[in-house]
Amino acid sequence: MNYVGEITGVGSFLPPKAVTNFDLEKLLNTNDEWIQQRTGIVKRHWVENNVSTSDLAYEASIEAIKNAGISNTDIDMIIFATLSPDHDFPGTGCFLQAKLEVPNITVLDIRQQCSGFLYGLSIADKFIRTGEHKNILLVGAEIHSKGLDKTPEGRDVSVLFGDGAGAVVISAKEATGDSSQSQIISCALHADGSFAKELWLPGPGNAFNSDSRCSKEMIDEGLHYPKMNGRNVFIHAVKRMAETLSQTLAKNKLKIDDVDLFLFHQANIRINEKVAEVMQIPADKIFNTIQDYGNTTAATIPIGMNDAIKAGKLKKGMTVGMAAFGSGFTWASGVLRY
Ligand code: ACO
Repeated sequence: MNYVGEITGVGSFLPPKAVTNFDLEKLLNTNDEWIQQRTGIVKRHWVENNVSTSDLAYEASIEAIKNAGISNTDIDMIIFATLSPDHDFPGTGCFLQAKLEVPNITVLDIRQQCSGFLYGLSIADKFIRTGEHKNILLVGAEIHSKGLDKTPEGRDVSVLFGDGAGAVVISAKEATGDSSQSQIISCALHADGSFAKELWLPGPGNAFNSDSRCSKEMIDEGLHYPKMNGRNVFIHAVKRMAETLSQTLAKNKLKIDDVDLFLFHQANIRINEKVAEVMQIPADKIFNTIQDYGNTTAATIPIGMNDAIKAGKLKKGMTVGMAAFGSGFTWASGVLRY
């Protein structure tokens, strides 16, 4: 039997505490006008101290599983995309698995940052098409707020990021051969590690001339805070997102007119506007959430998917184009029929 993977359930969770640009003015020597003009962000959500990444993922997963009309125990694989794990090891997927009480299934953590959801979608699609798994839970979840430099020195990065989680259930369906069947149609995955240090978290780590992967010196130097060459990230993001999405559409003989909705990674509204300009995508076909949530990295696309469903913008049978770019550099695109 031939199978395709259909997204049968979507869920998301944002921690209740909203942090506005005006709140950040008090910490970061920044201002609402600068943040809105340069990024489009108005507010983001940050967790309280006692919340972990797997806690956010759990809430999103429960909603996705419920919307898929199945039980936790029907899930036979978890793919967890995050750059902000509960602990260095084991992977956060195992902590989520324990919370969902689904022992003995396959659990895979992936580390592709902002492209993590699309990498995960492609991996899930392959496992479904081989017939090896029937219901895969794919989660993107991040807690950035605990890892940001919340002083004026960190303002270029710290205004951008929010906490949140998004999840989808991908279920195996017998392929009908009908081109209108709901399914993940195609994904393309890319990376160029020569840009790894353009957006990265240096410490703690083993690539230091030290007998310890974590030292007081690292912390004194602020190496445990993310570093970013914002302009370079911006330029590459526009180029690569437009390039990979155009290629994926062409490969599947789809034109912009054939796509009902575009869900892009949410790093900066100006990146998405530029991609739209380059590809000549009408603004009303792009669903953005960055104004409310900031950049939640691996979670942005599934959170956007859930908000689009709730807003009536994404309906069964629609064709969706997706693209993401982030640290690595990694970038990816995908097309699905919802
Ligand atoms: N508030 C106020 N002023 C600031 C802030 C801030 N938060 N951050 C920087 N500035 C100042 C700088 O100090 C600089 O001042 P100066 O002119 O006196 O030297 C001025 O603003 C301009 O700084 P630039 O870095 O040149 O600003 P730019 O227009 O490039 O915008 C930004 C910066 C928003 C980070 C942009 O480069 C960008 O969006 N890059 C893409 C990177 C990105 O989105 N990363 C997210 C994670 S990666 C991903 O998900 C794709």
